[in-house]
Amino acid sequence: MEITVKQGTVLRAKGQILILTHHEGEDLAKEIALVDKAIGGLFREVISTEGFSGKFLQSTLIRPNGKMGFPRLLVIGLGKRDELTLDHIRKGMGHAATLVRKMELEQISIPVYAKQVKRVSICDLSQAIVEGMMLGLYQFQRYKTERPNTKEIKNCTLLGSEGKSIPDIRIGANRGNRIAEAVCYVRDLCNTPSNMATPSHLAEEALRIGAEHGMRVEIYDRSEIEKIGMGALLAVAQGTAEPPKFIVLEYEGARPASNVRQGTRKKKKKPIVLVGKSVTFDSGGVSLKPSDKMELMKYDMSGGATVLGVMRVVAELNLPIHIVALLPATDNMPSGTAVHPGDVVTTLSGKTVEVINTDAEGRLCLADALTYAARYKPAAIIDLATLTGACVVALGQHAVGLMGNDQKMISQIETAGRETEERAWQLPLWEAYFSQIKSDVADLKNVGGRGGGAITAGLFLKQFVGKTPWVHLDIAGTAWKHEGGHPYIQKGATGIPVRLLIQFLTNLSKKSGGASR
Ligand code: BES
Ligand code: ZN
Ligand code: ZN
Repeated sequence: MEITVKQGTVLRAKGQILILTHHEGEDLAKEIALVDKAIGGLFREVISTEGFSGKFLQSTLIRPNGKMGFPRLLVIGLGKRDELTLDHIRKGMGHAATLVRKMELEQISIPVYAKQVKRVSICDLSQAIVEGMMLGLYQFQRYKTERPNTKEIKNCTLLGSEGKSIPDIRIGANRGNRIAEAVCYVRDLCNTPSNMATPSHLAEEALRIGAEHGMRVEIYDRSEIEKIGMGALLAVAQGTAEPPKFIVLEYEGARPASNVRQGTRKKKKKPIVLVGKSVTFDSGGVSLKPSDKMELMKYDMSGGATVLGVMRVVAELNLPIHIVALLPATDNMPSGTAVHPGDVVTTLSGKTVEVINTDAEGRLCLADALTYAARYKPAAIIDLATLTGACVVALGQHAVGLMGNDQKMISQIETAGRETEERAWQLPLWEAYFSQIKSDVADLKNVGGRGGGAITAGLFLKQFVGKTPWVHLDIAGTAWKHEGGHPYIQKGATGIPVRLLIQFLTNLSKKSGGASR
């Protein structure tokens, strides 16, 4: 969908359908009252005759019969004005967009009004409108030979009535567009079955993103992973015929403006390293999972996919931060060569691990990737992983499990989570839990027994980051949605927490005086 920004008022503009919003328990807003006047009071009539009160996600279609440049007005209820947040806007717009698609229209116009949401800039409002629309329209139909919805909305025009707000609307719309595209890209990768979304496929994607945005990419294959000494990742990969890959992608921050001499470029900042669990299929290995819902374990690479999505946006928005992405990618399969329960493996850090359960493979892959990450002496490490069923039990589908060794960064992630409605909830990594992952025969064991499974997994990872500030996000519950009904997150892969991370990184770059908004 193409996004256009135009200066103009709803009374003068033209298009196929105009989206307006109305709040519950209020008279018509000033802008809508003008429209109502132009269409001879049709809107007020609908309110009184059809019981349209502006309740959240209520909608009504009005036909102005030639009295406006739009043959249709779609009014969406946004609920009570003083409860309005950006997420209501995203939801409202996601809902509106799917209604418009059902009408088989190709063009949609939306006015953007300053101060519509309290304490929210017109730039952020425009971003939310575009995100809501684009995410709401997402569908995964790649493997359907008969597609039910062939007509897609081709254009969405944001109308700004004041010339001075147009540049801000443009910036917000562009951000929303790039971010939503990346979220949809991540959803596509995670919805893609594991016979297509293999480690080699992830490597090709990293190479493509790297080439498009001038990033350095390195792909290590099985023999190189062995040479590096990643014994834990190799242990997981030894059961599969599908070639594993260790993928490194590096973005060095905004390029200097062309009038700045090369020599004056600032010294490279310490990077932030993003590590994404990239188990392209988790059968459990020898500790085989039950077959019920095992097919969903294609999304066990959501962490890695998210990292790729974030790298894309960071480059497209030219954020002034240095980021390294690491994806330890492999299938986890049972076979004659697979790792056995009881085997002891030596990790890249030198620490030994007793593999009690081959289904706790994520922490093995991540252990080596985290050691590799710490070697950059980075400013911070953030890992994302569909790591534990225990996190799903603890927090369900609505909160990312948040752990780490740096309380400041944890609260920055919480803030970004609230700002994007991709919320994260902290779990403790107290030393008291450590006895659960001590092994009788090795330094550590890869499961912590009954109780606190998300925490003991987090504590296991902590052993591999040293003193580097580090945050772990367990996305097992949030990366997949098991039912429909949400206006902009469909059943299937969600793309969470791409928006949270972009927000976090943008907030950071604002602090360091980089990006302007
Ligand atoms: N990939 C799973 C975790 C998972 C579960 C992700 C449900 C998404 C939905 C992970 O590798 C796993 O199997 N973890 C085990 C660990 C256990 C053996 C200690 C689990 O959570 O059951
Ligand atoms: Zn597993
Ligand atoms: Zn797994």
